[in-house]
Amino acid sequence: MVYEAVIFDLDGVLCHTDKYHYMAWKEIAGELGISFDRKINDRMRGVSRMESLEILLENFKGNLSWQQKECYAQKKNRIYRCLLKNISEKDLEPEVKQTLDAIKASGIKTAIGSSSRNTKFILEQLGLSGFFDAVADGTDITRSKPDPEVFIKAAEFLGVEPKSCLVVEDAVAGLTAAAAAGMDCAAMGNLKDSAKADHYLDRFSDLLHIL
Ligand code: BG6
Ligand code: MG
Repeated sequence: MVYEAVIFDLDGVLCHTDKYHYMAWKEIAGELGISFDRKINDRMRGVSRMESLEILLENFKGNLSWQQKECYAQKKNRIYRCLLKNISEKDLEPEVKQTLDAIKASGIKTAIGSSSRNTKFILEQLGLSGFFDAVADGTDITRSKPDPEVFIKAAEFLGVEPKSCLVVEDAVAGLTAAAAAGMDCAAMGNLKDSAKADHYLDRFSDLLHIL
């Protein structure tokens, strides 16, 4: 398969924000008296902030109004944004940057397809603002992964047919979204051991063997 574009998920693929999501949700869980662990945090990969809150609330005994949920989601984001200030260019692994540079130099288009509404801030922190040909994120969509909307948007922004795009993902929700968008998917992280993908990346630079 000849791919004209690669669409990268952000959290868990280009950078490791999971620990900050975990710390922020842990604080909200503590406030609500809910138990929270890495396993629950893993289920939040790829899905929106509000859907993540709903996952957290599965262990909550009471009932929250829509406004209260909105407040908790906003509070989680304030905590998360503070933690994101710790991220810098040093957190972009050299192998990741070298691979991105090589893909770009080969003429293949690159995009971000992320559910996160903090995508642009994270890209700035990583020194990647303006690097990608297109960025589709949580601010561009009405339905988050596993819905294909964010990947379809990214392909549209790039002007490339979905079938000519390769998605790089670390989450089941993202893999499902890529398939629903009619795109091939390269799985990395835990996803590579747990799901059926078109390609498997042991290392990020393995992408160069696929393209
Ligand atoms: C995804 C993460 O990239 O973004 C999810 O994998 C997260 O865990 C989602 O819930 C939304 O993030 P944000 O930054 O908009 O709260
Ligand atoms: Mg991810």
